[in-house]
Amino acid sequence: MSKTPVRTLTRQGATVHIYPDKMTASQAAAQFWADAMTRIGEQRADAKVVLGMATGSTPIPFYAELVDLHRRGHLSFAKAVIYNLDEYYPISPLDPNSYHYYMHQHLFGQIDVPANQTHLLDGSVPHWAIGEHCRQFDRWIVREGGIDLQLLGIGRNGHIGFNEPTDLPGPAASQLPTRRITLHPVTRADAGPSFGGRDHVPRHALALGTEPILAARQIVMLAFGTTKAEAVARSLDGPITGRVPGSLLQQVGPNVTWWLNSDAAALLRD
Ligand code: PGA
Repeated sequence: MSKTPVRTLTRQGATVHIYPDKMTASQAAAQFWADAMTRIGEQRADAKVVLGMATGSTPIPFYAELVDLHRRGHLSFAKAVIYNLDEYYPISPLDPNSYHYYMHQHLFGQIDVPANQTHLLDGSVPHWAIGEHCRQFDRWIVREGGIDLQLLGIGRNGHIGFNEPTDLPGPAASQLPTRRITLHPVTRADAGPSFGGRDHVPRHALALGTEPILAARQIVMLAFGTTKAEAVARSLDGPITGRVPGSLLQQVGPNVTWWLNSDAAALLRD
């Protein structure tokens, strides 16, 4: 299968690669990710690479590709330190809908990352401890020197991670810390099928803030399918606004690479 994009666009310094389908886009993005990990590791005396990982249906073929690269001996996560974007709240890590479960199934259980080098926000912390739990997550990331490589998907409503649309002005919306958020109705509707109906989707989640996300040195954004086309176009071509969290990425354009299939790119002009 060809890994050459059918189109490549530039937007505010960001590179937007468009592939015919999500499989080829995922393969190309995974190769880009693996190359970036190798390059970053080679630049550090301790070979550490700080990764920000995402969940949802979008990155599943991307993770399958990383696992394949690992199995073929082309990629090691032995020096990776991983911080995940989000987790439902409340939720047990045993719940198959938890992102703990997801990450174990799709990535951590299949690669050589040491268990003590993976960090996920914990959907089982008591309510009174949430604030400190989230602040601790941000402090740990700062102590690592920030995120080297951040994987993102985008919601139909333009959310990045679980940073949902907000009326805050762009600068404030870009400086949000890790915190408990209320899930947007669109997000709960989209998660409904896997929870057996939207009423069973938790109302809240813990979300890595926009501040640590935007501070990542490189951001890899994946978006596939017609349902994402409007969020993609508003993020890349619309004004920078908290109402479309994906648009906040325009502020760090040169650090961002978008990997789309043709359907997700349908509303982008050349
Ligand atoms: P999805 O979610 O991959 O399940 O479409 C992406 C997101 O909401 O960020």
